[in-house]
Amino acid sequence: MLRVAGLTKQFGGFTAVNRVSFEVAEGEILGLIGPNGSGKSTTFNLIAGALPPTAGSIGFLGNDIAGTHASKVAHLGIARTYQIPRPFRKLSLMENVALAAYYGQAERPSRDKAWTQAKEALSLVNLPTEESARVEGLGAAGLKKLELARALATQPKLLLADESLGGLDESEMNQAADMLAMIRNERGVTIIWVEHIMGVLMRVVDRCVVLDHGEVIAEGKPSTVAHDPKVIEVYLGTDAEEVQQTVAARAGTATP
Ligand SMILES: Nc1ncnc2c1ncn2[C@@H]1O[C@H](COP(=O)(O)OP(=O)(O)OP(=O)(O)O)[C@@H](O)[C@H]1O
Ligand SMILES: [Mg+2]
Repeated sequence: MLRVAGLTKQFGGFTAVNRVSFEVAEGEILGLIGPNGSGKSTTFNLIAGALPPTAGSIGFLGNDIAGTHASKVAHLGIARTYQIPRPFRKLSLMENVALAAYYGQAERPSRDKAWTQAKEALSLVNLPTEESARVEGLGAAGLKKLELARALATQPKLLLADESLGGLDESEMNQAADMLAMIRNERGVTIIWVEHIMGVLMRVVDRCVVLDHGEVIAEGKPSTVAHDPKVIEVYLGTDAEEVQQTVAARAGTATP
């Protein structure tokens, strides 16, 4: 579905993303992981058209979309969430999500249809669909869900989820992980998921790409990546053993 090749982004003399190549197959959940500042969000910005790449290609369903405007990328079927949610705070939840449905699809829906799609997207993430429900008062978990609903309302084929579940408690984090799995399993949406909490991410993803200083340093199944000495050195550190146990427990309970 997505083929990124030689993707590079320089900010002045600093290379934030350096010749990154990876592929994502339709229906996959790919984990994009790595230390702070390793280039994960920048990679999302390049794919989603928020920033033009310095070099490289981004093939999506057969088209090279590198440098394509963000609105066009959305219309082609790629939605992204932002690490720091910035909803329209004065609008209702429904209005926030309906705007995404209205402007984020190639074929502009009627107002009624946008409204229905907004309702669907909010229900999918377990947020209230009453027209009186406001952004104000949503906690960190609620804001993440709203961000996800806005992305889903555009009816994407590929979802780039930049999560950072840092502010959430454990049950909220597990809910967020289950939600992404459900979106893939029931909606058939392909997902690239950026998240630092490996105990949560590794339960769900099919494959990982690991970045460090803007470069891909490892790629493979969670069981391979969690034992990779380079990944342990630059990223997992003292958590490696716990992550390996999570992956092993998952393999033990996996259904074919
Ligand atoms: N618009 C920009 N201008 C200049 N430098 C930038 C810009 N955006 C990102 N960077 C730099 O590029 C590097 C990669 O940043 P990026 O946000 O992609 O990292 P990340 O992997 O998402 O990190 P985190 O896990 O903390 O979210 C960082 O050093 C960052 O400061
Ligand atoms: Mg980031």
